[in-house]
Amino acid sequence: MTPQRILTGITPSGTPHLGNYAGAIRPAVEASQRPGVESFYFLSDYHALIKTANPERVQRSTLEIAATWLAAGLRPERAWFYRQSDVPEITELAWLLACVTGKGLLNRAHAYKAAVDKNLAEAEEPDAGVTMGLFMYPVLMAADILMFNAHKVPVGRDQVQHLEMARDIAASFNHRYGEYFVLPEAAVDESVATLPGLDGQKMSKSYDNIIPLFASRNMLKKLVFGVVTDSKAPGEPKETEGSALFQLFQAFATPAETETMRARFTEGIAWGEAKEALFQKLESVIAPMRVRYEELIAEPARIEQVLKSGAAALRAKYAAPFIARLREATGLRKLDQLPVIPADSRAKPKAQAKPQFKQYREADGLFYFKLVDGDGRLCLQSRGFASAREAGQAVAGIKNNEGYSQWGVPAPGASEVDIRQAIDALRAD
Ligand code: TRP
Repeated sequence: MTPQRILTGITPSGTPHLGNYAGAIRPAVEASQRPGVESFYFLSDYHALIKTANPERVQRSTLEIAATWLAAGLRPERAWFYRQSDVPEITELAWLLACVTGKGLLNRAHAYKAAVDKNLAEAEEPDAGVTMGLFMYPVLMAADILMFNAHKVPVGRDQVQHLEMARDIAASFNHRYGEYFVLPEAAVDESVATLPGLDGQKMSKSYDNIIPLFASRNMLKKLVFGVVTDSKAPGEPKETEGSALFQLFQAFATPAETETMRARFTEGIAWGEAKEALFQKLESVIAPMRVRYEELIAEPARIEQVLKSGAAALRAKYAAPFIARLREATGLRKLDQLPVIPADSRAKPKAQAKPQFKQYREADGLFYFKLVDGDGRLCLQSRGFASAREAGQAVAGIKNNEGYSQWGVPAPGASEVDIRQAIDALRAD
């Protein structure tokens, strides 16, 4: 049985925060330790260029995030761990996919639409400040995923639409060229998918409300004491629902600890006490990782080595052979595979024949048709029909894109792709 392939990317455009850890890194590291799972975790540094124009920040963030994953327990011998830009086949695939992706599909992407809406609200041109990088973001992300035919993609809720687009794009490619891609699925862990930040909104670098995962002990304490609460006095019962403090606690505590905390909320725990408890909980989880992190970050060359060797092995095993197949599928082929045409026949070129449906009657009295391609090669052979009219209707159905398998079978040596191409060529005129 092929192992289930799990893949996720993390964009190195900022400092890893608690939300990244609980929502992505921790579940990913756990998954990589399960038997029967092949994991792919990578730094999506090309995606970072869409979010920041600061080269030092991209580099620094790449170092920090790589060190974070290793400190969080990812073992490079148990999971593919690499940097997107070290696998050039991914950007090559992004182009192949762009050529089967409708512009209209990308027009509907939330991130792009949000940029347009903001421009309109500010009486700007709709596309002001929108780069093709932002617009193509979902295509590059689809390439990340489809390159390795991942089955499951753990992401935050905000990325679910991108996964739907990756499926659409994969299906378009498969329809045109044959079944090359697995249709990936988003895996959203509802319990931890989004953590609140200091202000109670989703923790995100864009809201400037993050708690860095490896803030110093003192800084962590300071930040935790700055998390918003309501103004209920000590002794007054507190709501757990909608409490940022409670949600943060829950994301790091065991279910039993969470229940105890819930009871303390009902009993009217003072906010100061709740904050102290959250700080202690976080510190107990983070402190051992922080030590490993500091060691790793002090040796960037070691991390570079880990990333480079991950990418090299991955390219050799998957990316290079797969992109070779995809190039072949799309017609980016070597010319020396073509037959040699004698010089005199080149002088008077034959008009390129069109594919054709040929209808005929056999000795068995039944009516048949076959599809031959432009070179006269048989692609599809029909079954027998009782009347010429029925055979004609089947031909019309095929031209109308209703498929062919209810009416005929591929000729020996003809592939699904040959048949598709012949039908498409017929439909084109
Ligand atoms: N877009 C993701 C984010 O910003 C990062 C990402 C890039 C990704 N490529 C991916 C996630 C492929 C999953 C799969 O969070």
